[in-house]
Amino acid sequence: MKNYDIIMDMDPGIDDAVALTLALHNSNLNLKLITTVAGNVSVEKTTINALKITNFFNKDIPIAKGASHPLIKKFEDASHVHGESGMDGYNFDKPTNNPINMNAVNALYQTIKNNDKKVILISTGAFTNIALLLTQYPDVKSNIEKIVFMGGSVHSGNMTSVAEFNMFSDPHAGKIMINSGIPLVMVGLDVTKQSLLTNDTLEKIKPLGPVGKMLYGIISHDFDHSDSGTAVHDANTIFYLLHPEAFQTKDYWIDVVTEGPALGATVADVRSAYHTDTNVSVCLKEDQVAFNNWILQEIKKIADNY
Ligand code: RIB
Ligand code: CA
Repeated sequence: MKNYDIIMDMDPGIDDAVALTLALHNSNLNLKLITTVAGNVSVEKTTINALKITNFFNKDIPIAKGASHPLIKKFEDASHVHGESGMDGYNFDKPTNNPINMNAVNALYQTIKNNDKKVILISTGAFTNIALLLTQYPDVKSNIEKIVFMGGSVHSGNMTSVAEFNMFSDPHAGKIMINSGIPLVMVGLDVTKQSLLTNDTLEKIKPLGPVGKMLYGIISHDFDHSDSGTAVHDANTIFYLLHPEAFQTKDYWIDVVTEGPALGATVADVRSAYHTDTNVSVCLKEDQVAFNNWILQEIKKIADNY
């Protein structure tokens, strides 16, 4: 298994918290920086939530606060999904750690440029910080191996019938990222709504000590939790990075709609009718059994250390 230097840009957010938990403890992932963005809840709350998770696990990872609103569109949160705090369902201790004294864009630029090898960006919130980074510091592109992002969908939306929340939150930022020329992997609703964390897996997580109690508390609170399981959307980006063999992907030319009723839609030129080249590797299928086995095994290993 390869070793990756990664940065996570996120809007915790219950499923972001699950993804962060997994990334913090995987020996193949060197998490260099966490950046936060407004999305599920305000950037103040997403930053506090990232601090809560690193504090819970006593991990000293720099956290830089990012954009408080989209590039052009009005900010609309998803507190109906993740609760008022953005991570309801567990009573976290007040974090003793603080964000670094640098904004997310400058922290992203410095961390990426100073790293001794290319960095993989994992993005699980609105793409505002990434768009600002690529616009203000275009030279950074050559230091980014790829961006694995939770967002978009080529079949259906969750904010409208066609738009997924992260892309809907800041479609102009999504378009800048999609057109950046950086290798992109889209872990969208096409797989995250199909490869659910089953309730059987969730019940097996519950008794795994303090870690199981915390994860069970927040996941069972998630609006995307139902009788058939929970869409822990963002956790699928980490599973993809470590186990791409569990996914079926196809390269498409993707464009992002930035106005009108289809705002935030990610449209794939599936017949290559308008573009001969492609810009995104889109995840179309995921092995749900492999995902559940993997996440349970990972959480058991994590829980053994707390
Ligand atoms: O559409 C799901 C995405 O929107 C996830 O990243 C979730 O955390 C929310 O940000
Ligand atoms: Ca998210």
